[in-house]
Amino acid sequence: MRITGNTLTRRGFGVILAAGLLATGLTACANSDTGDNAGGTTGDDKIVLGFSQVGAESGWRTANTTSVKEAATEAGIELKFDDAQQKQENQIRAIRNFIQQKVDVIAFSPVVESGWDTVLKEAKDAQIPVILTDRAVDSADKTLYKTFLGSDFVKEGRLSAEWLIEETKSATGPVNIVELQGTTGSAPANDRKKGFAEAIAANPNLKIIASQSGDFTRAGGKAVMEQFLKANPKIDVLFAHNDDMGLGALEAITAAGKVPGKDIKIITIDAVKDGMQALADGKFNFIAECSPLLGPQLMELAKKVHAGEEVPARIETEETTFTQQTAKEALPNRKY
Ligand code: AHR
Repeated sequence: MRITGNTLTRRGFGVILAAGLLATGLTACANSDTGDNAGGTTGDDKIVLGFSQVGAESGWRTANTTSVKEAATEAGIELKFDDAQQKQENQIRAIRNFIQQKVDVIAFSPVVESGWDTVLKEAKDAQIPVILTDRAVDSADKTLYKTFLGSDFVKEGRLSAEWLIEETKSATGPVNIVELQGTTGSAPANDRKKGFAEAIAANPNLKIIASQSGDFTRAGGKAVMEQFLKANPKIDVLFAHNDDMGLGALEAITAAGKVPGKDIKIITIDAVKDGMQALADGKFNFIAECSPLLGPQLMELAKKVHAGEEVPARIETEETTFTQQTAKEALPNRKY
């Protein structure tokens, strides 16, 4: 974990033990798990955390939701969980509900970067601290939230490009790259695109010949890859902004009679189990890791901001990269 701003010790974020999934079947609207307590701090003085999740678009997201729910149980925090189904308006509505219910802390993973100032101001006026988790917002006013916890997405894009530069260093002709972007306007899509493009810029051989959003889903990855294959007779490399889109694209590539990992080299981001399996099987060529296991750190931060303690402005997760060989070694112990 890399920390900028004030120091926060890592010890406090000790590894969380599996505590079983938080019991589901709680009341309220279809996409929300909320506790009985309509107000903020419960009778037994538990911290109440309102958490607005992006959705369930990928294996990464499922692992992240599990991490948050398990960590809340472990930390003795009452979690009000809302699934926004990848819609900003749903997240804004959920945050307003949390404000109305006077929760102690609000955390959310913003589906897109822009358009949050009004609702964040409402939370600030209600004196409810907000934590950004996984994805950032582009608000100029940094006092609208307490901290950001998540990955360096620009670095993930850059590491992906650096692997490709090394891999193609002896190429004599152009290397045609197609890019499957994540959700349009989201921080990981913007930043991964930027990191990758900046890193390959000095290499005239490496050309992005098509780039389109697959919305971080397998179905989206498959559909867009089908279009790419139809429109472009020579594709050498696929850079997919997450494993799920890469896995969807695998189907399209195979159906087009090409061999994934050989005819078309595949670079993805995340390193969830299915992606790691594809890498170990030789169908993917490289993965830059993005860790979804943010729950324990999030709970620690929720306790701190609730207590009025200073926290770092930005906390980045420690991540690595995987090749086909290292994926084989890591797979048996992969938890998600
Ligand atoms: O914000 C993190 C990204 O969102 C993950 O890379 C992707 O799989 C998810 O949907």
